[in-house]
Amino acid sequence: MNMIDIITKKKFGGELSQEEIDAFVSAAAHNTAPDYQLAALLMAIRLNGMTPEETTRLTLAMTRSGDVADLSAIPGVKVDKHSTGGVGDTATLVVAPLVAACGVPVAKMSGRGLGHTGGTLDKLESIPGMRIDLEEERFIRQVQDIGIAVIGQTGSLAPADKTLYALRDVTATVDSLPLIASSIMSKKLASGADAIVLDVKTGSGAIMHTLEGSIELAQAMVQIGTLARKPVTAVVTGMEQPLGTHVGNALEVKDAIDVLAGRTKGALLDVSLLLGSHMLMLAGRAKTQAEAEALLREALESGRGLEKLRQMITAQGGDARVCDDVRLLPQPAVKKTVRVGRSGWVAGMDTTALGLAAQAMGAGRIRKTDVLDYSVGFVLPVRIGDEVRPEDELCTLFAKSEADAEAAEKAIRAAIRFSDAPVARPPLWYAVVTKDGIVRA
Ligand code: URA
Repeated sequence: MNMIDIITKKKFGGELSQEEIDAFVSAAAHNTAPDYQLAALLMAIRLNGMTPEETTRLTLAMTRSGDVADLSAIPGVKVDKHSTGGVGDTATLVVAPLVAACGVPVAKMSGRGLGHTGGTLDKLESIPGMRIDLEEERFIRQVQDIGIAVIGQTGSLAPADKTLYALRDVTATVDSLPLIASSIMSKKLASGADAIVLDVKTGSGAIMHTLEGSIELAQAMVQIGTLARKPVTAVVTGMEQPLGTHVGNALEVKDAIDVLAGRTKGALLDVSLLLGSHMLMLAGRAKTQAEAEALLREALESGRGLEKLRQMITAQGGDARVCDDVRLLPQPAVKKTVRVGRSGWVAGMDTTALGLAAQAMGAGRIRKTDVLDYSVGFVLPVRIGDEVRPEDELCTLFAKSEADAEAAEKAIRAAIRFSDAPVARPPLWYAVVTKDGIVRA
């Protein structure tokens, strides 16, 4: 089948057949078409969309493009969790250890940064020695032994997504409902979990900025899961501002450790408890959200959550001393604290711009081959609705150079709006979508 014919059909908004989608997915999985043709088709899909049937066909073809993991050797219900991506969104590093500490096995395959959003694998790789490329057999053994492993997609799982994900990251084709839904669900179906909790972000830092767009994405993914007979709960959560106060790879690992050590409260912890509760309920470990949250809080307060993270880091070759001394994480050349410089209330943020500021500092990729600087990023203690005074800290920059710090300061200042009147705090979550319908907050 000719790739140019397929690109042309989608360029004019046509519906691709199973055969055409299979040809595209096979070319992506086996690298038999050049990147420029794959990228052209991705852009045509981004601009002209896909019908629900095409999205399902694409997802199933991507799932079948490689192996499907068999996790049956791990006892218990394996529940996976995946975020559509955000800024300062390091919930996996909090939720996965807490859920594992509650006795529910976590066998998770995560992704790298995509566009302005960060990726769990990049964050994990900022831990000295940490390996995320475990073979399937070792991955399964680790989950059997300690109840948790977070690794990269193995070469043989959804290989088409591996190619397309890297291309989308650098061709402005991330924000497409069919491409996001097929990317996430193909990986989740291939990675063999029994049930899936999706964190669908909404707001200025999400891939989908509008609530209705995010709910539509949640529904599309729930529907695909239902067709594949996997229970899926999609929680639509706010991304009007970074989830945690830290943005950047090593900085987000530090943020997660601070939460697990009980030093930090706030949105990162609250959203982690919410997602973790749904994971425990899908796993049958708790009947109600209140019961699930109590189990997670006990794992947090007893230190068993942090201990699970320590065990996982050690098992994957990393230096688990970072859990007790975060200064062992990569440190930047320049640290600079920036003050708010006015009084008023924090009114809003262009969170995508904040993510791009971190990317420009070296925390994310602009080209596929870019090498990340794990130490860079920023800490942003202000939240929407906070009242501020001129001398308050707006952010602390962690940069490679003074020039980078200056550019980041300019970008961050431009991304944050203030008001002279009080501003309401945005909600943490907006809706929960399952096959039974939508429950709005
Ligand atoms: N996460 C993914 O795995 N894929 C996307 O397209 C977006 C977020």
